[in-house]
Amino acid sequence: MAKVVVGARLPGRIDEILAGHTIVRPRDGEAELTRDELVRALRDADALLALLKWRIDDALLDGAPKLRVVANYAVGYDNVDLAAARRRGIVVTNTPGVLTAATADLTMALMLAAARRLPEGGAMLRQGRWHGWEPEQLPAMDLDGAQLGIVGLGRIGRAVAERARGFGVRLVYTAERAAPAEVAEALGARTMGLDELVATSDIVSLHCPLTPATRHLMNEARLASMKARAVLVNTARGPIVDEEALVRVLARGHLLGVGLDVFEDEPRVHPGLVACQRAVLMPHLGSATVGARRAMAELAAQSIADVLAGRRPAHVVGDTG
Ligand code: DGY
Repeated sequence: MAKVVVGARLPGRIDEILAGHTIVRPRDGEAELTRDELVRALRDADALLALLKWRIDDALLDGAPKLRVVANYAVGYDNVDLAAARRRGIVVTNTPGVLTAATADLTMALMLAAARRLPEGGAMLRQGRWHGWEPEQLPAMDLDGAQLGIVGLGRIGRAVAERARGFGVRLVYTAERAAPAEVAEALGARTMGLDELVATSDIVSLHCPLTPATRHLMNEARLASMKARAVLVNTARGPIVDEEALVRVLARGHLLGVGLDVFEDEPRVHPGLVACQRAVLMPHLGSATVGARRAMAELAAQSIADVLAGRRPAHVVGDTG
């Protein structure tokens, strides 16, 4: 019987999947383990179902000598030091696929809200600044015929492309690896270099992982090169955008709006973004649907069960497995 630390109160059939193992969970009434509880629980733990806001690094792993698997409760795994895990022979897994639709849906919600200036309209109404229908009130973007530039055509990028096609956008994409011709063709998407995509798109939507190469990919120069009335959407990871630069660019009146679900230093949100009415801001809700969160929990638990049973889990990241 192994000891499995499940870092948060999670939905789904976790007990069933991990039957036969001892599960350590947050205390009753608590949503997740405190840092101290986590450190204590890891001293003799075999497995960890980890939250993306926890940094899984040497400092933490040094105190977990028996750990065999870290199942990250997310598709992104930039919070895990893969080299540190590899040095200890710890398998790291993630939860791709099951949150694709939920994240793509939220991307569309942010895109539509920013492009149609919903926060500005809502504020105008609530603050008593609306005095009736006017022909020139808050003119927004015409999605039909707009160019949508997708940065990263993986599962989520493709799901966004599929949804956006229904709105009549012209699709262009840039990706580390060119998408298979049949995928791009089915989507009607044209590949383009990043700088050209950023400078010519009406909407830029980020769907690449956070890596050293993508940190501040959207730097001040690129943000400034976007069309004056373009929209930027980020449901990937906050540090892909230089937030300080974004605040400066928005303060200059550049960009029609931004839709952000992720931030550089979560849960801190730059006050310049909070103050900006052209910014649609959400608290990292991309995968926050009942079905996606349940499926993520079950997939992560299954990865742990597989490692503990000597099987290779379906979604190992890095080459720790
Ligand atoms: C992920 O899975 O990486 C999301 O950011 C959280 O669900």
